[in-house]
Amino acid sequence: MDTKKRILTGDRTTGKLHLGHYVGSLQSRVELQDEYDEFILLADVQALTTHFAEPSLINSSIYDVAMDNLSVGLDPEKVTIVQQSQVSSIAELTIFYSMLVTVNQLRHNPTIKTEAKNYGYADLTYGFLGYPVSQTADITFCNADLVPVGEDQVPHIELARKIVRKFNELYGTSIVEPQVKLSKVGRLSGLDGNAKMGKSMGNAIYLSDSPQAVWERVRNAVTDPARITVKIPGHPEICNVYKYHCVFNQGEVSNIGEMCKNAAIGCVACKKLLNGALNALLDPIREKRHYYEEHRNEVRDLIISGTAKANAVGNANLQDIKEKMHVII
Ligand code: TRP
Ligand code: SF4
Repeated sequence: MDTKKRILTGDRTTGKLHLGHYVGSLQSRVELQDEYDEFILLADVQALTTHFAEPSLINSSIYDVAMDNLSVGLDPEKVTIVQQSQVSSIAELTIFYSMLVTVNQLRHNPTIKTEAKNYGYADLTYGFLGYPVSQTADITFCNADLVPVGEDQVPHIELARKIVRKFNELYGTSIVEPQVKLSKVGRLSGLDGNAKMGKSMGNAIYLSDSPQAVWERVRNAVTDPARITVKIPGHPEICNVYKYHCVFNQGEVSNIGEMCKNAAIGCVACKKLLNGALNALLDPIREKRHYYEEHRNEVRDLIISGTAKANAVGNANLQDIKEKMHVII
C-alpha cells in the first residue's frame, strides 16, 4: 500500500511560468517528488476568476503550465498532473464549503485585497472573491497533507484549515487539515526594482525564455545608482542584481558582494555572471521543454490520465463526505 503523504499544489493557467514560480514552489515540488505522492493542479477554473474573457489564453496555458512543470524536472512517472475544471468533486466540495465561509472573511483576506488592487477591480465578482474556497476544495478533494507555496498563499491555506476543521466538526468527516510548506526564498522581486515579478509588471523572466530574452532583462536591471563608474564602491544590499545572485548564484555570491564593495567588479561584468548562472539553471529546463513541445500529445495524455486518477480519488472521498452529510437518501 502507498503510505506516502500527499502534496497538492498548482498554478493558475493564465500564462507561462517564470522564475518567481520556480523559487516560490516549483523547486520544492521537484525536491519532494520522491518523498510525497504529488498532485500538480492546472488551475484553469481559478484562471477564469480573472481571465474569464480569455478562454483561448487559458486553453494554451493548460499546456504551457503542464510543460513548465515537466521541464523543471517533475517526473511524469511520479507526479499526477490534474486539470482542475475536469474534476467534478472539486466543484461540488466548493459549494459545500461555501456555506461555512462568510463574505467578510473573504473580503479581509490580504491576498484577495492585494490582487483586487493589482487588477484594478472596483467591485469583485462572486467567483473571484470566493476563489480561496475553491482552492480549499482543490487541496482537500484528495486529502493533501502538504501544500508547497509562496508567502502570498498562506492566508488561503489558513482559511482552508479553518474550513476543514469546521466541516469535520459539523459532519464527523475526517478531511485532512493541510499544512503549508513555505519556500526557503521569499518573494522574488523584479530585476527592474519592482517588488513583484509578474506578467502584468512586464518584468518576468520566463522559464521558457530564450537566452537573448534573459540577457535583455539582466542587462536592463536596475543596480546601485551610486555606481556611476566602476571605481565607485557599491552597496550590494540595495542592488537587484545582487539579490538575484543570492538566490541563483549561491556559490559566488559572497565573492561578488565583496568585489562590489571594493569596486573590484563593474556592473556589466556582474550582470554577465548572473546571466551565466541563470542560463546554467535554464538550459536543462529549455532542453526538456523542447522535447515536450515536440511531443504535445504525450503532455495531453499525461493530463488526461492524471485527471482520471484525481477523479477516482475525489469521487470516492466525496461519496463518503456526502454520506456523512446525510445528503444521500
Ligand atoms: N492560487 C495559486 C496561485 O495563484 C494557484 C492554486 C490554485 C493553488 N489551486 C491551488 C496553489 C491549490 C496551491 C494549492 O499560484
Ligand atoms: Fe549590483 Fe553587481 Fe553592480 Fe554591485 S557590481 S551594484 S552587486 S550589479
